[in-house]
Amino acid sequence: MHGKHILLGITGGIAAYKLTFLIRLLKKCGAEVKCIMTPAAKDFISPLVVSTLSENPVGIEFWNKDDGTWANHVEYGLWADLFVIAPLTVNTLSKMSTGNCDNLLLATYLSMKTSTLVVPAMDLDMYAHQTTKRNLAQLKADGVIIVPAEEGELASGLTGEGRMAEPETIFSEIEKIIGNSKADFFEQNILITAGPTHELLDPVRFIGNYSSGKMGYAIAEELIERGANVTLISGPTNLTIKYNRLRKIDVNSAEEMFDAVKSVWHDSTIGIFSAAVADYRPKNRGTEKIKKKSDELTIELIKNPDILKWAGANKGKNQTLIGFALETQNMKENASVKLNAKNLNMIVMNSLKDKGAGFGHETNKISILDNRNNYKAFKLKSKRAVAKDILNYLKTYIG
Ligand code: C5P
Repeated sequence: MHGKHILLGITGGIAAYKLTFLIRLLKKCGAEVKCIMTPAAKDFISPLVVSTLSENPVGIEFWNKDDGTWANHVEYGLWADLFVIAPLTVNTLSKMSTGNCDNLLLATYLSMKTSTLVVPAMDLDMYAHQTTKRNLAQLKADGVIIVPAEEGELASGLTGEGRMAEPETIFSEIEKIIGNSKADFFEQNILITAGPTHELLDPVRFIGNYSSGKMGYAIAEELIERGANVTLISGPTNLTIKYNRLRKIDVNSAEEMFDAVKSVWHDSTIGIFSAAVADYRPKNRGTEKIKKKSDELTIELIKNPDILKWAGANKGKNQTLIGFALETQNMKENASVKLNAKNLNMIVMNSLKDKGAGFGHETNKISILDNRNNYKAFKLKSKRAVAKDILNYLKTYIG
């Protein structure tokens, strides 16, 4: 459940108060929760309670009348890993089954990119009514997942079918749908470096490289989902991470990256250094733009700090360090030398010679060598799948 985005839609039924328990269960397991309420739901549960427990503003109206901003249902649809509507009243059920869109919750339902789960709650005659049955059947046919109402005492004083499923039942249904990845890096502090570095020549030019940062970002997302506390030290990229539960330090140059790593490494149990750090930087960094003069221009370069080597030299007993190697020849031999020289536990190799692997691609083809002399080669896969392979290998390594 860690790092998952659960969007809760609350409609106007007595059972709405039970949502406080569901929000707490979800938050306790590390999920991020945002809530949308129908205007009628405000009569049953206070938006203040909902926003305090979910630690997010609550969406109710299309427009925020105070500051004139638009509550963007499309954004909600993109953000959510799962939309859960509980309690689902007869009114909202009938509107969902016909495509009515007269409030923010319904507009969001129509904008959902992932699954919607509904938990009906109503009086027994309403639940038994053929229109309710017809509308629920329609939602089912539309792909909505339904957690059926349970038997029991109802707010009307009647006893029968119509009671909303208990928060624990809803929680385990949510877990079944989205909680497929295990939190096997729970609460581990993990440092990741990613992207290129830019070494300034003058105020408008730099020496850089083609690293996109995609591999490091994919590892960061995968780790957040597996429960880790991730600090991502990133050189300049165009990428974003879809989770808020991330500490991100943006840097430009190798020296800035080194400073950031020095401040974080001692608090980390694992370091994954995927950044393509420039080996050299211009010796003199002009404060003015270099002028076009003679036919030749010589730029003197000096060596950058080897950040990974520093981390290896300052590695504690309980720290695990992973480096990356991009080689064009004698890959395994060169990687093995690097593994030892930098005091690494594992090195991930990728070759520029493999089609679809390395800089900028959506895919990568890696092999891993560790300091216990184990070696494993993997097939060409998406960078996200490669991130899984690296982390599964790491998990087996650390035990
Ligand atoms: O020695 P080489 O640069 O090939 O090693 C690559 C590995 O070292 C990568 O994991 C990279 O992130 C890291 N590195 C570093 N600081 C440098 C150069 C490389 O952390 N200055």
